[in-house]
Amino acid sequence: MSLSLRFVSFSLFLCLGTSLAHAAGGAVAGAQVFRKCGACHTATEPMNRVGPSLQGVVGRPVATFAGYTYSSAMTAFGEDGKVWDEERLSEYLMAPKAMVPGTKMSFPGLKKPQDIADVIAYLKTAIAK
Ligand code: HEC
Repeated sequence: MSLSLRFVSFSLFLCLGTSLAHAAGGAVAGAQVFRKCGACHTATEPMNRVGPSLQGVVGRPVATFAGYTYSSAMTAFGEDGKVWDEERLSEYLMAPKAMVPGTKMSFPGLKKPQDIADVIAYLKTAIAK
């Protein structure tokens, strides 16, 4: 490989690295996105509102927050022990009713992949201290 080609592929590698880091999401931007969820959820307290508390939701088994009455659709969805990992959350937040038909979460979903990445980054910081 010629030197210039090497340089080009190295720069491409750098660009890719930066955009991946960006797509990985930022907790600060995610706190802003979370305002859309805040009418129904808190992530900073173990308190249920219209929706269950989202404290520690990343890595939490589906439909298991204490004291919350889930829809039968969400309960059934979690019955085989599914966990809210980042992939599953991303897909859910894009179109909740597509992933869990019959869920009582009446939220159409987030359109922008960046918003989803950011809000998940924020949720990862929302753990019980
Ligand atoms: C209009 C109210 C409302 C809004 C807005 C809303 N949710 Fe929900 N959410 C709910 C309800 C109600 C449930 C319980 C769903 C069920 O039992 O079917 C839920 C469930 C969830 C769950 C599953 C939790 C668990 O314990 O299994 C996640 C994750 C979630 N919401 C994330 C979000 C995020 C992130 C946002 C913002 C982008 C959001 N929700 C916006 C009402 C809402």
